[in-house]
Amino acid sequence: MRIILMGPPGVGKGTQAKKISTVYEIPQISTGDILREAIVNDTQLGRQAKQYMDAGRLVPDDLILDLMEDTLTGEKCKPGFILDGFPRTVPQAEGLDELLEKLNLTLDAVVVLEVEEDVIVNRLSNRRSCPECGAIYNLQTNPPEKDEQCDNCGTDLIQRSDDMPETIKNRLRVYREETEPVIQFYDRQNLVQVVAGEGSVSEVWKRVQLALSHK
Ligand code: AP5
Repeated sequence: MRIILMGPPGVGKGTQAKKISTVYEIPQISTGDILREAIVNDTQLGRQAKQYMDAGRLVPDDLILDLMEDTLTGEKCKPGFILDGFPRTVPQAEGLDELLEKLNLTLDAVVVLEVEEDVIVNRLSNRRSCPECGAIYNLQTNPPEKDEQCDNCGTDLIQRSDDMPETIKNRLRVYREETEPVIQFYDRQNLVQVVAGEGSVSEVWKRVQLALSHK
C-alpha cells in the first residue's frame, strides 16, 4: 500500500499513521520527525530547517523534495509507505507524482483527517512526545501512566517547540493557504477519502480502516 495521510497540524496524523504502519506493515514516513531528528543531530538539513519550523513556516520545497527522493527510493520503502506530513504544497505533490512515475509506482489512497480548529489548539497544547521512541501522548485524552514519562521506555516526555499558541496559529494559517490546495490536486485524481477526526483515537482509527478498505 502507498498512502498519504493529510490534515491540519494536530489533527492526529502521527497517531493514526503509527497504527496504519503496524497493521499494513509499511513504514511511516514523517517529514516532521525526520526534520526534528536532523535538528537534534545538528546536520546541515537540521540547521537549514530549524528557523522555518520554529516559526511555524514550511521548510523550502527543494530541501523537502531532495529528502523525500532519497527516502522513497530506499530499501525501506519497497513494501510501500504511509506518508505523514508530505506533500504539503502543490509543487511537492507535483514532485512526488514525477518521482512515482519514474519508479513506475502509483498511490492507493489520500486520507484527509478533518477536525474543528478549537479541538486542534486544545490537542496541540496538551501534546507531549517521547524524544527517544516517538510515542505521542496527550495530557488530557491519552496521558502517560507516570507523570510526563514515556510508558514504553521511561524517557522524560517533551513539549514540541512549535506547540506554542502563536506558532500553532501560524501553522494553521500556512495549512489553509499552502496545503489545502494539495487536497484539490489529489481530488482531481480521485484519490481522496475524507475522514472525521473527532472522537477518541480508536473511533477515528475505525473510520480510517473503513476508508482504506474501499481501496
Ligand atoms: P509535522 O511534524 O508534520 O507537524 P504537523 O503537520 O503540524 O502535525 P503534528 O505533528 O503537529 O500533528 P499530527 O496531525 O501528527 O497530530 P498528533 O497525532 O501528534 O511538521 C512540523 C513542521 O515541520 C512544519 O510546521 C514544517 O515547518 C516542517 N515540515 C514538515 N513536513 C514538511 C513538508 N512536507 N514541507 C515543508 N515543511 C515541512 O496528535 C496531536 C495531539 O492530539 C497528541 O497529543 C495526540 O495524543 C492527540 N490526539 C490525536 N488523536 C486524538 C483523538 N482522536 N482524540 C484525542 N486526542 C487525540
